[in-house]
Amino acid sequence: MRGDTDEAIFLKDYAPTPYLVEKVELDVLFKPDRTRVRALLTLVPRDTTEPGTPLELDGDALTLDSIAVDGLPLALTAYKETEAGLTLIEPPHKRFVLETNVWLEPENNTELMGLYRSSGTWCTQCEPEGFRRITYYLDRPDVLAPFKVKMTADRQLAPVLLSNGNLVDQGQKDDGMHFAVWEDPHPKPAYLFAMVAGDLGSIHDSFTTMSGRDVALGIYCEHGKEDRCAYAMDSLKRSMAWDEKRFGREYDLDIFNVVAVSDFNFGAMENKGLNIFNDKLVFAQPETATDADYASIESVIGHEYFHNWSGNRVTCRDWFQLCLKEGLTVYRDQEFSMDERSRPVNRIEDVRQLRQIQFPEDGGPLAHPARPDNYREINNFYTATVYEKGAEIVRMLATLLGEADFRKGLDLYFERHDGDATTIEAFIAAFEEATGSDLQQFQQWYLQAGTPELKVTDRYDPETQTYVLELTQSTPPTPGQSEKQPMVLPIKFGLIGPNGSEMNWDTVSGGEVRDDMIVMNTPSLALTFTGIPNRPVPSLLRGFSAPVKLKTPLEQDDELFLARHDSDPFNRWQALQDVATRLMTEAVAGTDWSDADLDGIASALEETLASKDLDPAFKANALALPAEQTIARAIGQDIDPARIHAVRDALISGIVSRLAETLEKLYLTNDSRLSYSPDFKQAGRRAMKNAALSLLVAGGTAHGPRLAREQYERAQNMTDRIAALTPIVTAWTPDAQALLGDFRTMYTADPLVLDKWLALNAAAPDEGVIGRIKAILADPSFPRNNPNRLRALMGTFAMRNPTQFARADGAGFRLVSEFVADVDTRNPQVAARVLTAFRVWKMYEPTRRAAAENALKSLKESGDLSRNTAEILDRTLAG
Ligand code: PHE
Ligand code: ZN
Repeated sequence: MRGDTDEAIFLKDYAPTPYLVEKVELDVLFKPDRTRVRALLTLVPRDTTEPGTPLELDGDALTLDSIAVDGLPLALTAYKETEAGLTLIEPPHKRFVLETNVWLEPENNTELMGLYRSSGTWCTQCEPEGFRRITYYLDRPDVLAPFKVKMTADRQLAPVLLSNGNLVDQGQKDDGMHFAVWEDPHPKPAYLFAMVAGDLGSIHDSFTTMSGRDVALGIYCEHGKEDRCAYAMDSLKRSMAWDEKRFGREYDLDIFNVVAVSDFNFGAMENKGLNIFNDKLVFAQPETATDADYASIESVIGHEYFHNWSGNRVTCRDWFQLCLKEGLTVYRDQEFSMDERSRPVNRIEDVRQLRQIQFPEDGGPLAHPARPDNYREINNFYTATVYEKGAEIVRMLATLLGEADFRKGLDLYFERHDGDATTIEAFIAAFEEATGSDLQQFQQWYLQAGTPELKVTDRYDPETQTYVLELTQSTPPTPGQSEKQPMVLPIKFGLIGPNGSEMNWDTVSGGEVRDDMIVMNTPSLALTFTGIPNRPVPSLLRGFSAPVKLKTPLEQDDELFLARHDSDPFNRWQALQDVATRLMTEAVAGTDWSDADLDGIASALEETLASKDLDPAFKANALALPAEQTIARAIGQDIDPARIHAVRDALISGIVSRLAETLEKLYLTNDSRLSYSPDFKQAGRRAMKNAALSLLVAGGTAHGPRLAREQYERAQNMTDRIAALTPIVTAWTPDAQALLGDFRTMYTADPLVLDKWLALNAAAPDEGVIGRIKAILADPSFPRNNPNRLRALMGTFAMRNPTQFARADGAGFRLVSEFVADVDTRNPQVAARVLTAFRVWKMYEPTRRAAAENALKSLKESGDLSRNTAEILDRTLAG
């Protein structure tokens, strides 16, 4: 079996390499059928290395043609080719040059790791372990070297030749070939290496850095799509300016290029000076991209650019430290988008995402610490925990230290570790030293898996005018970690008086309270506030100041009070969500809501919509009721997704029947015909209007379906078109089939819009969905190897269609597990990622649980799975 025999790798076994790489020189010849890579590696043993220590180089899917040391071909007995690469049995005990010549077959590389072709363009993906598929190397992040690469290719086939750093030479040859030589002066790990060779169009601009240096900016893409790159270019320039202004970080090369490719396993990659992007995160035009697409482009362009400091200048010692660069960089990209858009609205959306994706990971069989201590396949650890929880940890650090001290610590970290491959401990130490704080207990956030639960109860004594808050934290056991330590929790809060304004207190005792923040670091805490004239309503965890599950003492009336009065917009939103969640969980358990309950939530929503000081984008979020998966998680066990779906529909109908007029008016007065701009204000208005439309359809109103159809038909931009089609398809109204067909025909030629069609088909909760998906997969024109298409169809079905994925007859589970087995033979990363949808399987009621287990077991028996998929499968079954 491919992946079954692989052993885990442990953090505790970390040891530096016995040899260092001083220089890498590559000479790459791109030919239509195969590519030759000649590598000259200047290697030197460390002072501590014993003579005769073998040199073990990583290599994968390489065909070795020749090998020499210091110009002399090696005897067959001097090296051996192994499963994992190549070993020099007794290298010289001094500086030496190793030359290897290998052949690669990028045409047959469907895994999209190493050198591959995407629509004819040669491109690379080296993080985390792709460079070993280009040449034999010490392919790990703590081996840093300067790279120089000569690329030679047919002038017609590949007029564009790009790599990292600066272009130092180029020229023509007489045989129709040409070459370019790129040199990157910054030593870097191999995972940041990149090459692109192809026939591409481009747009160009420039940026002047804070010290006055001009940087040439380029975005490369398929010919004819250049005009779709403008927003990405604009985002790039804003990112560069923002990182200077907010964090004092300047760009360090004269060139910065971005290349958009159609086949890519992730979103994008931060290769030094040559970012490679999934084209869906570059291309944007009003007719084909939604407001959400524009926002993602801005955020991912920012993310990859920000890696230049958090990741590239300071990199990771080993892959266990992945969140050193990813958590920090997600935090930075979130802050960028918040500064460009809206702090509270972005926070709501980031938290929604965290709860939707990271919480279920942290609460299921795939739970792992933000810094894991072992793995079988590192590609399986590019997770929401490493990225999004990693960002929450950095955010808590900023909250605890305050903005000025956080900046001091970050500056020290960048300064001290510039050019290093380092660790989480070193990151934390920089903050401790710069600010004189003790962060040892805080560091647990990186080491301990699971989402802490924070329970709060309160008591008010009118006699003594004291108010007591009792807080208890606990973290549930996760695989491999049964005992948990208490965490450091920064809990932003306020006490709200009967008139809706903040209350002050005379004294507080029993724990650490700094202004509006409780710092909790014990299992429990009882805080006593004195000088409180009336019973307050506590607003806890403002801005979601710690990534925990909060159980508050609040009754529905208190929550509705907060929804109206809290000065913290996040908690206003949260209060509405909490009321809706409670009504639904109680109804699923058999206690229906009353008319008064519906009146209460409807009038709070109505007041929210009428508010003059809330953003339309905020109101859009208020109108979006908790997702079915959120309800499922709140219930926690014996889940019947069909029941949850029905209850949620009923709640929507109940609310909408009370708000139909308001929603319709909101819809009609905000349905602007202004020419499209992706800016936050206009996008927010669209989001609010479309949230109203969606409710009008889902709530079964008389006008809803007609308004939606009309909007679909006259839409001038993709945001409005999709926003009209989505509720039609979700509710499977009589128009659904015809409009889906219309959409399909209208956008046949645009693969990225086709993804939206695939996702709509896959997310619709109607009974016909499995048949539709099978028909799409069976269509010979369906691109079977493109990750975007596969994810749009099957990722969406598995993750965003809770009722049909978890059908009681098991057909949804089987569809997904059979798909995983098939795709695994071509692209293990995509297969393993889709398989993670099963992480919730133990939460289902017995029939569905058994059906899910059967699907997983038959995948296991299908045999010969990749290491990626085998690892996810084993952990999912065991957890
Ligand atoms: N490092 C990339 C990022 O910015 C993600 C990535 C990982 C891309 C692995 C490709 C392969 O988050
Ligand atoms: Zn990243």
